[in-house]
Amino acid sequence: MDGIQELKAKYLGEIADAGDESSIEAVRLAAVGKKGEVALEMRKLGKMTPEERQVAGPKLNALKDEINSAIAARKASLADAALEERLRSEWLDVTQPSRPSQTGTIHPISQVTEEIIAIFADLGYSVAEGPQIENDFYNFDALNIPPEHPARQEFDTFYMHRDEGDNRPPHVLRTHTSPVQIRHMEKHGAPCRIIAPGRVYRSDYDQTHTPMFHQVEGLAIDKNISMANLKWTLEEFCRAFFEVDNVELKFRASHFPFTEPSAEVDIKCSWAGGQLKIGEGDDWMEILGSGMVHPKVLSAAGVDPSEYQGFAFGMGIDRLAMLKYGIPDLRAFFDSDLRWLRHYGFASLDMPNMHGGISK
Ligand code: DAH
Repeated sequence: MDGIQELKAKYLGEIADAGDESSIEAVRLAAVGKKGEVALEMRKLGKMTPEERQVAGPKLNALKDEINSAIAARKASLADAALEERLRSEWLDVTQPSRPSQTGTIHPISQVTEEIIAIFADLGYSVAEGPQIENDFYNFDALNIPPEHPARQEFDTFYMHRDEGDNRPPHVLRTHTSPVQIRHMEKHGAPCRIIAPGRVYRSDYDQTHTPMFHQVEGLAIDKNISMANLKWTLEEFCRAFFEVDNVELKFRASHFPFTEPSAEVDIKCSWAGGQLKIGEGDDWMEILGSGMVHPKVLSAAGVDPSEYQGFAFGMGIDRLAMLKYGIPDLRAFFDSDLRWLRHYGFASLDMPNMHGGISK
C-alpha cells in the first residue's frame, strides 16, 4: 500500500501549491475525479482477494476524504486571501477632505423675479404668461396704439422678417409685457389679478439698455377698483421688495396710450457716498409706469368697461435688481462672465419668502 502514501503526498503537495481556483479544480479532477488516480485505484479493488480488499478499501476511502477536505480548506483560505487583498487595496480614508465641487448660482434676474412673484402671490395675484413673438394686434392695436400712433416709433421694435408679397400683419418681438393683459382678459375675463413677468425686446444698447430685458406687468380688474388701490399696492410691494418700512413713492402724471389717467412712479432715495439707499435722502428715481386701464383696452380684450375697471402697471425687473443689489451696469447681466455670476449670483437655498426678504 505504498502507492496510497505516494498518492497522498503527491496530491496534498499539489493542493498546497495551487494558487487559484482553476488549478485547485485541475488537481481535484486528476485526484478524485471520475477518471482520477484515486478512482483508478478503486477500480482495482474488484480484482483483489476479499482480505486485500478489506485492507485497501478503507484506506482508499480515507485518502479520498482527506484529499476532498484538503481541497475545501485550500479553497477557503484562497477566498480569505482574496478578501484580505480587496480590503487592503480598496481602503478608503474617510477623514480626507472632499474634492472641491463646482456649484452654480441663481442669476440675480431669476432671484428678483421669484421675489416679485412671492410678494404678489401674497397679495392674491397669480402669474400669467404670453408669447415673446407677438403679433402687432396684441403688442400695439389692442393696447390703443393704432398703426399711425407715435408710440410705435418710440418702442424701437424688432419686426420679424416677411417674404415679399406676404401681406399678413407683422409679427414683432414683444416690446413690453402689456400684451399679456389682453391675452389674459380675452381668455379669462374679469375680475382678475395677475402679474406677468418675462422677456421683452427693443433695439437699444448702452449702460442702461440692452436689446433684451425683463419686465413685470401687473393687472387688477374688478367692479370698484380705483387709483387709491393702485397706490397702496405699489407702496406695499416696494416696502416688501426693498425691505424698508418708510418707502415714499411719488405719482407723477404721465401718458400711456393704454391707461387713463396714467402715472409714472418715482421712489425716494439717497445717493450719498455713491451708494443707493431706498427710503432716505431727497432724490427721486423713476421705477415704473402705471395707470387706470383705458376703456378701449378693456373693450379690445372683451371686457365691458361700463361694468369693470382696474389698474395696470409695468416695471423693469433688471432695473429693480440693479437697485436692490447695487449692480451698476445692466449689460453685465447678459455677458455670462463666470466671475460676475459667482459674485452677484445667489445660492439655491436663498429662497425668497412671502415678504420678499431672503431667508437663509
Ligand atoms: N408697457 C409700458 C412700457 O413698456 C410700461 C407700462 C406703463 C405698463 C403703464 C403698464 C402701464 O401696464 O399701465 O413702457
